[in-house]
Amino acid sequence: TYVVTEACIRCKYTDCVDVCPVDCFVEGPDFLAIDPDGCIDCTLCVAECPVEAIFAASDVPDEQQAFIALNAELARKWQQITEKIPALPDADDWAKIKNKRQFLNV
Ligand code: SF4
Ligand code: F3S
Repeated sequence: TYVVTEACIRCKYTDCVDVCPVDCFVEGPDFLAIDPDGCIDCTLCVAECPVEAIFAASDVPDEQQAFIALNAELARKWQQITEKIPALPDADDWAKIKNKRQFLNV
């Protein structure tokens, strides 16, 4: 499965959503997650994300391993999103910030 990681927080560009053939993204207030039960490993979303937030589960950086379980947890909690929507208003500012896990609202 593929996993959304820290770079997405407070950006939420949603370019990833448009290419997913199985619509397995879910949306929260400032982050998207991938439903691991839906993802078919097509890899299409990876290149779409302007902040490179999406990794194969096997390639998630060590310091972001917690996002694997977090995507699964949030997929049970949040609603599906199937079309691109405008990014968060200050997405370009947040895109430059590396450590922003504490700003994730779940
Ligand atoms: Fe969807 Fe493919 Fe990305 Fe999985 S890898 S979330 S199936 S676009
Ligand atoms: Fe997030 Fe990147 Fe998608 S910022 S919403 S994973 S395009």
